[in-house]
Amino acid sequence: MAQLWGGRFTGETNELAWRFNASIGFDCRLFKEDIEGSIAHAKMLQKQGVLADAEAGEIVRGLTSIYADVVAGSLPITDKYEDVHSFVEANLIERAGDVGKKLHTGRSRNDQVALDMRLYTRSQVIETDKRLRSLRETILSLMKEHKDTMMPGFTHLQKAQPVTLAHHLGAYFEMFTRDSGRLKDLCARLNECPLGAGALAGTTYPLDRDFTATLLGFSGPTRNSMDSVSDRDYLLEYLSALSIIMMHLSRFSEEIIIWNSNEYGFIELDDAYSTGSSIMPQKKNPDIAELVRGKTGRVYGDLMQLLTTMKGLPLAYNKDMQEDKEGFFDAVDTVGVCITLFTGMLATLKFNKERMEKSASMGFTNATDAADYLVVKGVPFRDAHGIIGRLVLHCIDKNCAIDDLSLEELKTFSEYFDEDVFEAISLKTCVGKRLTKGAPGPEAIETEIAESAKILDDDWTSQYTASEIPVK
Ligand code: ARG
Repeated sequence: MAQLWGGRFTGETNELAWRFNASIGFDCRLFKEDIEGSIAHAKMLQKQGVLADAEAGEIVRGLTSIYADVVAGSLPITDKYEDVHSFVEANLIERAGDVGKKLHTGRSRNDQVALDMRLYTRSQVIETDKRLRSLRETILSLMKEHKDTMMPGFTHLQKAQPVTLAHHLGAYFEMFTRDSGRLKDLCARLNECPLGAGALAGTTYPLDRDFTATLLGFSGPTRNSMDSVSDRDYLLEYLSALSIIMMHLSRFSEEIIIWNSNEYGFIELDDAYSTGSSIMPQKKNPDIAELVRGKTGRVYGDLMQLLTTMKGLPLAYNKDMQEDKEGFFDAVDTVGVCITLFTGMLATLKFNKERMEKSASMGFTNATDAADYLVVKGVPFRDAHGIIGRLVLHCIDKNCAIDDLSLEELKTFSEYFDEDVFEAISLKTCVGKRLTKGAPGPEAIETEIAESAKILDDDWTSQYTASEIPVK
């Protein structure tokens, strides 16, 4: 046991209590952020005259070498230490001697961990957006390829009106674009530096909090020291954004699973992104899509866990808050791999255009257009709706499509039907005439694609400059 706080104690910590209390098993992931933050703190103490130049130099050299050795694998982070902060400080003292003991001047583990988590979260938010970007690029290129690929649009999972595959995929482009917007918003809000808040009430040393904030690439220091050490809103916002991303991925996965079913046959998954059955040789299962759908519950759980952990905590820091990490790390890892695998699966699957088009032409997806045809000829819409309803019933009986009937048969339902009806209710016309903004018609989808490309051009992550700390 190597702890930072032995002085006040006369007895040993119970072994189980020590392990229960320790966070090194999971906060070791924050070692880079912890070292970056420590270097910034040391440089600021030097600038403020709290540390002599030579002292700060030794501390920074020690920290940099610890970072290098951990990365090289020659310095393992073991459970001998309580947490990552103790690990770094103990190793610093081992390397730099007594001067290492001065690093923690004007700092508490409470503002230290708050800083580490913000730095880590910022880089993960940007990483999530990078993955989302490549998913959005994949969707956009499929949209460009499938402007003319007809398919049925559904409501209640019943065929409703014909659309194009580009249009259907465009809906997901919008969802993931909003997801990116959420990441952008929360990143701006979290980008404040809690370092200098101390345990809860700041410190009597003349710290320059603006200086450390700038060094670490923050927009400025946080404004209230008690809030700084007890705020985890940014994690909750990020977990919420991750949960919504998973909800979108899950809906898309559900469609992939349906499209991949024998009955639909709209797509064929690439071998690289599907798996077989141990007993049924004919199987090619959409396991990746199913797992993405399944892991959505896990990420929601991570969000719920932290919301629940935080809900009754008095100000300021409480050890409960150490529980902010494992679920959060789990969510970040889960969503990252889900976006990347989903993107690969989507980019490699094959769409069966003929089957999609055939499906669109069956199931009366042109019934609305047939009613609209009669409206143009002068029939009030409600009457037209009734006429086409009876016509559909007749077709169901005959097991045929509206377009399969002869003009004579059509005329028995309404005298307003004429030769031009066949052109008017063809799949091509049904989609081609839907030109309102955001609709699937050719000009409308061209506009949507062009706008989507422009939206993708704007990369908000570039405004976050790397921190000036050497370990980057
Ligand atoms: N491991 C702790 C956490 O993750 C670090 C902060 C400890 N602070 C304290 N007062 N014990 O929250």
